[in-house]
Amino acid sequence: MAVRQDTIWQKFLFPVLRMLIYQETLSNYTRSIDWEKESDRFRRDDVIIPTYYSSKNFHGIKRGYLNYNAAASYDAITQYVLPPNETWIRQAVIDTVKVKNTRRILDLGCGTGSTTLLLKQAFPGAEVIGLDLSPYMLVRASHKSESSALDIVWRHGNAENTAFPDSSFDLVTASLLFHETPPMVSQDILGEAFRLLVSGGQVLILDGNQNNLRQIEWLNDVFEEPYIRDYGAGSVDAWMGAAGFAEVYTQDVWWLNQLTIGIKPIIVEDAKLQTNQQQYISTEPEPKIDDNLQGFRFPAL
Ligand SMILES: C[S@@+](CC[C@H](N)C(=O)[O-])C[C@H]1O[C@@H](n2cnc3c(N)ncnc32)[C@H](O)[C@@H]1O
Repeated sequence: MAVRQDTIWQKFLFPVLRMLIYQETLSNYTRSIDWEKESDRFRRDDVIIPTYYSSKNFHGIKRGYLNYNAAASYDAITQYVLPPNETWIRQAVIDTVKVKNTRRILDLGCGTGSTTLLLKQAFPGAEVIGLDLSPYMLVRASHKSESSALDIVWRHGNAENTAFPDSSFDLVTASLLFHETPPMVSQDILGEAFRLLVSGGQVLILDGNQNNLRQIEWLNDVFEEPYIRDYGAGSVDAWMGAAGFAEVYTQDVWWLNQLTIGIKPIIVEDAKLQTNQQQYISTEPEPKIDDNLQGFRFPAL
């Protein structure tokens, strides 16, 4: 599939942005890495790449995220497309975490790990896992966590079907993922988040502001974003409610973005169980998640 040349991004914005990006630094970084070898560290044979993902170009990059150029250039570009300030936008996720005991955190569609790193910095005692379908994005994410000395597990996987055990996370997040997936897939991902969370656990979805995307149709033509129109027409709020979450609400994040929050309800039987688990957990050290995820034990709040 040919890369679209008619988007505002390709015609006007990218040429300007090229001047702002440190092209030489970026090229040196890209050339310094054996992308195939490094991505093999993460690539898992049991991960099936869905067609909606592999058959489209994203942001003018052929085959989208299954291309090392996407991983190398992502951060340099993203800082300019999250006004007024990328860190402020991402910080909204951290500021909205309500769960008291954030022992295990999963960041779905983590990309190069910008939000994942913030989560680990905010909750240093938590085991933090970033999961993504692109092993190239995980290479870039791992370089960032290594240079920041942050212990994060980077995992190749599909957010629709992560293969992690039920009720094994206290917090599940996704930033800038849902505008890149068809609405049916976003809904499946919310279903998966519900399965993965303990009762009382929280889900946080940061993405483009759907109210604004609906009103400003031309914004959909700025980038080559195959699913953003359908995303804008939908409602993360409604999808979250349909997945079973309670206390769902959406707040604006600096006008162009939004954050949707939901809690997995505590049912009475679970509440009894969790009291027992708390007593059990407190007598033993927490297991660490290893690559094979053998360390998972029944979680508690
Ligand atoms: C726009 S990037 C966002 C990356 C990062 N979360 C951030 O905030 O910068 C979208 C990411 O979602 C990943 N992705 C898309 N569909 C996915 C899926 N079904 N499962 C896991 N990752 C997915 C892509 O590979 C890409 O890295």
